[in-house]
Amino acid sequence: MDTDTSSLLLNAISWAREAGAVHLRYFRGSELNVKSKLNDSDVVTAADKAAEKLIVDHIRRTYPAHSILSEESGEENHASEYRWVIDPLDGTTNFSQGLPLFSVSIGLERNGETLLGVVYAPYVNELFHAVKGEGAYLNGEPIKASAKTELGECVVSTGFPVDKDINPDNNVDNLTSVLPYVRGMRRLGSAAIDLSYVGAGFLDGYWELNLHEWDVSAGLLIAEEAGARFTHFRSDRNISVVASCAGIHDRLLSMLSESPKTE
Ligand code: IPD
Ligand code: CA
Ligand code: CA
Repeated sequence: MDTDTSSLLLNAISWAREAGAVHLRYFRGSELNVKSKLNDSDVVTAADKAAEKLIVDHIRRTYPAHSILSEESGEENHASEYRWVIDPLDGTTNFSQGLPLFSVSIGLERNGETLLGVVYAPYVNELFHAVKGEGAYLNGEPIKASAKTELGECVVSTGFPVDKDINPDNNVDNLTSVLPYVRGMRRLGSAAIDLSYVGAGFLDGYWELNLHEWDVSAGLLIAEEAGARFTHFRSDRNISVVASCAGIHDRLLSMLSESPKTE
């Protein structure tokens, strides 16, 4: 790894750890200040905003020329080859309920391609990172996607879109297709963790519709660098992605609906 990439990575890791410490200061506390965004299924807390401010301030101070996309504050465009893609708190619903799986996700693109990704789940103290072409790691140890080939031995996760209240294209059709054929289904509640867990082999597969760049930027690189495969399976529903170990990828993909549900 060249020295520039290595210092970008060290900064991203240290900011992710600081953001995780911010999450933990608020977690299960009385100052969450939970607010709805699009609807009651889409929430933001004081911790999302505090973690975002911390990371964005670091980027502006350290790399003032870089562009930034961050979930709560949006896009800050500069004429730079670098663009940071940030979810300051992924898994806010879990977080706001006191459930311990949530994370911060920091991806960095160079000329439109993801160069590095960091996902940190502070409550369980799991820090995943990957650099393009350099493998993926959990707390400094290399990780690998699972080697399974039989869907019936696989544990797979998914999630449900925030517009599920008004849109019948809510992923239940896919759940119905896959559920009978897998060992187990999970809904973890943080896309960045789902993807990192596919990389680590803790999950064998994951899919979801209607995600955003900040949900998947770091996690997709972590999964890919760990040997998982991923495919964008819908073009009409923001980012709709399936990621899995190589041995079940084609089978899982073939079970997912490629078009909107009509009623
Ligand atoms: C959400 C989580 C969740 C996924 C949702 C995302 P947020 O992100 O990743 O697992 O199912 O689609 O919006 O709102 O907690 O950052
Ligand atoms: Ca998210
Ligand atoms: Ca978020």
